[in-house]
Amino acid sequence: MKVRKAVIPVAGLGTRFLPASKAIPKEMLTVVDRPTIQYIVEEAVASGIEEIILVTSEGKSAIENHFDYDFELDTVLQMKKKDKMAEELNHISNLIDIVSVRQKKPLGLGHAIWSTRNVVGNEPFVVLLGDDLVLSKEPCCLQMLSLFDEVHESIVAIQRVPMDQTGQYGIVEGQQYKERTYKVEKMIEKPAHGTTSSDMAIIGRYILQPDIFPLLEETEPGHGGEIQLTDALLKLAEKRGMYAYEFEGVRFDAGDKLGYLKAIIAFGIRHPELGDDFRKYIKDVAAGLEL
Ligand code: UTP
Repeated sequence: MKVRKAVIPVAGLGTRFLPASKAIPKEMLTVVDRPTIQYIVEEAVASGIEEIILVTSEGKSAIENHFDYDFELDTVLQMKKKDKMAEELNHISNLIDIVSVRQKKPLGLGHAIWSTRNVVGNEPFVVLLGDDLVLSKEPCCLQMLSLFDEVHESIVAIQRVPMDQTGQYGIVEGQQYKERTYKVEKMIEKPAHGTTSSDMAIIGRYILQPDIFPLLEETEPGHGGEIQLTDALLKLAEKRGMYAYEFEGVRFDAGDKLGYLKAIIAFGIRHPELGDDFRKYIKDVAAGLEL
């Protein structure tokens, strides 16, 4: 079955990015020349997704507005003969159909995904976390969709992390199925030191079978009173199988201050117009020549 829909949860509070995220959603913070959420929507579009379901909350309307058509702005840009910018803004609003679902309380990522059950319906879907950026030749989501065409079961994207950082992630244990791909046997959310020998950490890209919804429904609130996605994922893995896919590319946690700064540098030095000058500037800074 073709995967047509992508869920992008953006309803979290963004406490790690305060004070910047107090009045501006962290997904609207700019990496070079566009907000992080735009990179994520573009990844979904480049992967052939046809509809995006944003899970939003109060105070996140700037995200919806960013992808909306702004008649007034368009008219002014046309009058001022700023055709290229008008074209770019129209391109953004025409990218893809986007619908929003409200998560009324920030009860966790699991709850955010559960909130989309009626809009997703009974079909497999992609989840892209609104603050996880991936830099790769082939979009991460597309890499996962190619694997899905073969295995037809849920997939979590993973990256290798240093063993002393496993406690910050959901960790997967499993047997290798083929290159870069593992059959999930166990999942542990933020394991205590020494409780796993695996360094395979789940990042913010998933393909999920709709069987996840009833499992989320019966998941009791866990850590911090939130409904954890990992708890339901483990049940789904036991029920009908799941794969972990070590994607090709680099992931940035743009919801974290250091991760965000790294993303700006990585995307900045690759920018077609600014990249060369920016790369030179960074070299100069590193050599202590500029402040
Ligand atoms: P995070 O924990 O990274 O985001 O959740 P957060 O809760 O916004 O940030 P901090 O930890 O307070 O700084 C992962 C993803 O799940 C979404 C977030 O928007 C983010 O994309 N999320 C989280 C929801 O949509 N709803 C929630 O209740 C919690």
